[in-house]
Amino acid sequence: MVTIEKNILIYGVIISTGYGVVTLEGLLIAFISEVFTTQSFSIGLVVNLYQNDTMNLLIGALLLNPENPLDQGSTVHALSSLATITLGDCAIASILDPVGNVIFNSGRINMQYPWAIESPAPGIIDRQSVSEALQTGLIAIDSSIPIGCGQRELIVGDRQTGKTSISIDSILNQKYSTIFTVYTSLGQSSSSILQVFLSLVQKDAIFYLSMLMATASSSAVHQYLCAYSGAALSEFFVITGELPSLLILDDLSRHACAYREIYLLLRRPAGREAYPGEIFFVHSRLLERSAKLSYNLGGGSLTCFPVIETLAGDVSGYISTNIISITDGQIALSADLFLSGILPAIDVGLSVTRVGSIGQWYGMKYVAGFYKLELAQFVELQSFSQFASDLGQESKNRLTKGLRLVEILKQSSRSPISLTRQVGILSLANQKLLKALAIKDVDLFLNLYLDIPSWTLLLIPPNLVAKSIVCCVFKAN
Ligand SMILES: *[C@@H]1O[C@H](CO)[C@@H](O)[C@H](O)[C@H]1NC(C)=O
Repeated sequence: MVTIEKNILIYGVIISTGYGVVTLEGLLIAFISEVFTTQSFSIGLVVNLYQNDTMNLLIGALLLNPENPLDQGSTVHALSSLATITLGDCAIASILDPVGNVIFNSGRINMQYPWAIESPAPGIIDRQSVSEALQTGLIAIDSSIPIGCGQRELIVGDRQTGKTSISIDSILNQKYSTIFTVYTSLGQSSSSILQVFLSLVQKDAIFYLSMLMATASSSAVHQYLCAYSGAALSEFFVITGELPSLLILDDLSRHACAYREIYLLLRRPAGREAYPGEIFFVHSRLLERSAKLSYNLGGGSLTCFPVIETLAGDVSGYISTNIISITDGQIALSADLFLSGILPAIDVGLSVTRVGSIGQWYGMKYVAGFYKLELAQFVELQSFSQFASDLGQESKNRLTKGLRLVEILKQSSRSPISLTRQVGILSLANQKLLKALAIKDVDLFLNLYLDIPSWTLLLIPPNLVAKSIVCCVFKAN
């Protein structure tokens, strides 16, 4: 019969410490996700309750501020509450760390609310189906892989293929919408985070943005928590502000590595590729929190763009297939397209959206329908034409037009296009006239079109617009 001292129910004793993790004995009333404090004001988070080989009950915990080192043998007190992050309006235009310390503040100070870092995802009754579109400002995405508010869309690709670029463009495009954006950066270098932040500041985007970061040099615990804090921050604005919000998790492959590190430090058995067996649950409970809430709860929505980095274009890796199966679609980026100068380098064949087209504006649905069909026919014909020497006139026409259609989807970064302009471009693209242009002139054609003031477009029929731009292009040559 094991006798337990009365105190050890409420107090715990640290029996070992690791990098960011501790093992406790005692604290028998602890529950998973409970926080505790120590005499040196460190805060810990219970993540594992287990019995060691001699059947002693032990607790594995994470340290939320690992800069305060702990000694073996010191006691801890449970707080019987969940880990929280303090939020408020001051989070807008600021950079926070995963436990809520402000790294950069825009100067706003407001009431602070504690908000649970990990909360259960909204249930079925609290949701409604996705019905509104989220415009990313990228014509290639909004036309063929549309995204709805409340959807989870994975951005997957090798390094340096423009994953962050797509995220930033989507943030920039929310300037005139009500969507609040949260950019969560984990495992990146501080300099690249600063670069992202500055480019957003330059484009005046920080007034509807808040950023969370755990750099590559932060502890694994911070990198792991960062994704959940990001979700909590978005939820805060979705629930209290009844706003639609966009959460970018850049990137979840680092999150998986951080969790693997913690897991191994806690001496738990490793599974496939040394990732813990529960890695699927780690990501699914995070992504499950994105939702389109019912009107009773304010009708806000949390759209999530997790980012995954692949190696050599292999989307069938362990973590990426996990996330593909959790999300409602993916935008796959291809290094080959990137190198051949097609930007954004979206691989249309591998990219899908499972719910987004429900919210797509019918005008866009109409023009994009024709466009997608022609593009698909072109792609098929292109691979076929590499072998066939002589093609019929019909096929040749299709190839010449197709080459120009591909050209139209090219878009430089940091220059999102509004929905009406996108529809305009696609309806111009559907016209036969496009064939008259040389491929190198398509870019000029688009720029001329984008320069036309909107009000004139209301007065002149589109075929006339197209004709006059083509004339200008010819004149320019
Ligand atoms: C299990 O934990 C108890 C309490 O810390 C310790 O005395 C015992 O040696 C541990 N057993 C093993 C096999 O590590």
